[in-house]
Amino acid sequence: MNLESKYSYAFVLALAIILLASCETKRPTNLADHNLIPHPVEISGTGGRYLLDREATLQISDPSLQGVADYFIEVQSGMKMAMDQKADIELALGANDEELGEEGYLMEITEYGVVISANHPHGVFHGLQTLLQLIPVNAEELVELATGTIRDYPRYGHRGSMLDVSRHFFGVEDVKRYIDFLAAYKINVLHLHLTDDQGWRIEIKSKPELTTIGGSTEVGGGAGGFYTQKQYEDIVQYAADRFITIVPEIDLPGHTQAALASYAELNCDGQVGELYTGTEVGFSTLCTDSEATYEFVDAVIQELEAITPGPYIHIGGDESHATEKEDYIYFISRVQQIVSKHGKTMMGWDEIAQGEIEKETVVQQWNSAGNASKAAENGNRIILSPAKLAYMDMKYDSTSRIGYDWAALIEVDRAYNWDPDTVNATVPAELIYGVEAPLWTETVENMKDIEYLVFPRLPGYAEIGWSPQSLRNWEEYRSRLAAHAPRFESAGIEFYRSPVVDWGKKDN
Ligand code: ACM
Repeated sequence: MNLESKYSYAFVLALAIILLASCETKRPTNLADHNLIPHPVEISGTGGRYLLDREATLQISDPSLQGVADYFIEVQSGMKMAMDQKADIELALGANDEELGEEGYLMEITEYGVVISANHPHGVFHGLQTLLQLIPVNAEELVELATGTIRDYPRYGHRGSMLDVSRHFFGVEDVKRYIDFLAAYKINVLHLHLTDDQGWRIEIKSKPELTTIGGSTEVGGGAGGFYTQKQYEDIVQYAADRFITIVPEIDLPGHTQAALASYAELNCDGQVGELYTGTEVGFSTLCTDSEATYEFVDAVIQELEAITPGPYIHIGGDESHATEKEDYIYFISRVQQIVSKHGKTMMGWDEIAQGEIEKETVVQQWNSAGNASKAAENGNRIILSPAKLAYMDMKYDSTSRIGYDWAALIEVDRAYNWDPDTVNATVPAELIYGVEAPLWTETVENMKDIEYLVFPRLPGYAEIGWSPQSLRNWEEYRSRLAAHAPRFESAGIEFYRSPVVDWGKKDN
């Protein structure tokens, strides 16, 4: 080696060492400095540490916690149930703290180990999600946990995301992956938009053509698809194992071209409609003054109710521009009766507030604050999904490779920076049931597209739904979010590297 190449060799070596050192995972030594999302209600460090090895053990105080323990062992490799020895991690019920409700938890990390306690297994599950975030993604043999206490519970009972499986169809495995995204950030509702003009995606045994015809295509003319009831039940169970409730949506009376193309009697002219693979909205309607329509809705809701353990059925109700207003109002009140008869609580987009709805019905504000105000005056609970802030199918900026911009461009800071209490000043805080971030899929064709639009906005929506407003601050959040990039990468998530986040910082 000549002198010159010796110098350049040394230079490259030095550079490599500097780079390695700067990428090295810096673990917070104070528990309160961890980059948890959503931000816990209370977190304090006590300055010590507990060494968790990669063969750490787990113990439960109640048989009802076996499911959450099994989940943790499955997702955190190396973990085992304790046999006789004292466990590193103890999961317990009986937190004796009413404020924690069903979903909150208390985590105490001391020099002797980790104890997660809650009032209900759901709370313990959330504690375990927090613990997963305290363990580095590429953990070596030993993980140092900073000692301290976390006491945590959600701001809202409904923290959701909607996935449109109609415009483009997504199979069972994709939906399960989506559910895992939600579970990691303590989101507890997956609203599945199962039907629209472009495809009917849930098997209804008494109406087979809804899926053989209505499910046979999608936006752009692809092959579409649908879930058999057995597959749907598998999704529901997978979600339930992660404490996520599925809210199924059958969009009525508009957004129904797939149904109109399957059954002639749903059309006022008695002629079967054409399948539709474009992206227009507002042109289709069921025939609202025909009894065949209500027999159809009743048959659909009856079968759907039987495979839906959750309390809600969402009936859409949005953008029914092809339905006369008085017919729409009549239709919504008939459908309300059908949903109630089948023992479920109705949800619908904000337009349903124009009709007669029961007080228990939940109204989802996406477009009209006025509709939501009317619902609130009636005492209905409101879910906030304002399109200008919460629609994950909106582009981040004008250069985004997919997405729409009709509502707004929604950069990661805009997606995060809003308070449910002030989005619609006429809705009293006690009627805000929660927040939901929808992903419509006209421009979304595959899982990579989903990941690009959902990450990194989803953790922000999770935090809006969970953390107290007083603890939320964009400048502080953006650095916590950056620390989650290694987690996204390790899960194979192709996320959007937004320029408003400094992704160079990697300390979790
Ligand atoms: C909607 O975006 N049409 C609810």
